[in-house]
Amino acid sequence: MRLESNNLLIMTNSSVDDSDSFASLVILWQLRHGRHDLPWQNTRDAYRVWLSEIMLQQTQVRTVRPYYARFLDRFPDMQALAVAPLTSVLELWSGLGYYARARHLHHCAQTLVHNHAGRFPENLEEIAQLPGIGRSTAAAITVFAFGKRAAILDGNVKRVLVRCFAIEGQPSSARLERQLWELAESLLPDHDIESYSQGMMDLGATICTSRRPSCDLCPLHAICLARRHNRQAELPPPRQGKTLPQQRRQVLLLTDGRQVLLERRPPLGIWGGLLTLPEGVADDASHFAQRHGSELLSLGEVCTVRHDFSHFRLMIDILPCTVRVLGQAAGEDGWQWLACEQIANAALPTPIRKILFSHLSPPDQRMLNAK
Ligand code: ADE
Repeated sequence: MRLESNNLLIMTNSSVDDSDSFASLVILWQLRHGRHDLPWQNTRDAYRVWLSEIMLQQTQVRTVRPYYARFLDRFPDMQALAVAPLTSVLELWSGLGYYARARHLHHCAQTLVHNHAGRFPENLEEIAQLPGIGRSTAAAITVFAFGKRAAILDGNVKRVLVRCFAIEGQPSSARLERQLWELAESLLPDHDIESYSQGMMDLGATICTSRRPSCDLCPLHAICLARRHNRQAELPPPRQGKTLPQQRRQVLLLTDGRQVLLERRPPLGIWGGLLTLPEGVADDASHFAQRHGSELLSLGEVCTVRHDFSHFRLMIDILPCTVRVLGQAAGEDGWQWLACEQIANAALPTPIRKILFSHLSPPDQRMLNAK
């Protein structure tokens, strides 16, 4: 059936035989050409599906694969995750970014164990109430773990819809977001919901890519309005180019070459619960050293590292300080002298790991490269 709506040609899937409907084109393509052996496919284990969907938020499949395998090795089920200390969860997440995801994941596992006997509810609205699970992730769990109909709308799916139906405007705007949800819901098939949902994500990730889409290989080739009018490059429009606000931090890298002084950040906020270099300037170095059982020998040259978060740019000025460590204890809760060989596996944010990496001696760098 074909509907004209807001100047959009929308093909709905009211009939299973409607073999050229939007959904049928996606399903057939997915079955023949989509991805079928991703590590989180071919299972109805909601724990595994959920973990993959959280890791895949804002992160590519290629990056997620090794993290997913390590995580499942260590926490094979909900119970194992719920009883683990948050620091162990953060250690396995370190390098993947967006650490709030790991904190929510842990909180969600505890909520499910305490309130739902360790199992996911099967209802979309209930799933969407859980910590760290938005509407699209809840839909992905509903589809892949329970085989029920629900609309997914992640960044890749949005791009496919915006192009196919030539939808104007900023996809991140509330108005367009609403319109896209409505459209996504209206296109859902009555059958093969898993293949359809996976197909939409596969199309966005592998064919309808943001730059140089492979339209010749696309099952929506014949109905895609962006392709028909050669507008793939302008749809969706790039995010409005706001320059990121900038913050600056001055940190001290106290090390004797074998260990480095680190502080655990408070649980919430940027890098919450992770280990970082202590903030301070040259005048603080001697005091810092003493407070943590060491003696300052010399100061090095400040170097600056830039790191972009989604909403601000962080400039980190690092002052290397050579110390002699007199005792092992760092002296205060949350502080520690971390042995250099443990840096590869510690719960460190990526820019801090890189900073340590670049200040370490060659044997340690080889260890870090192995991660
Ligand atoms: N991105 C989000 N969810 C995904 C999934 N299940 N498979 C591949 N990429 C995804």
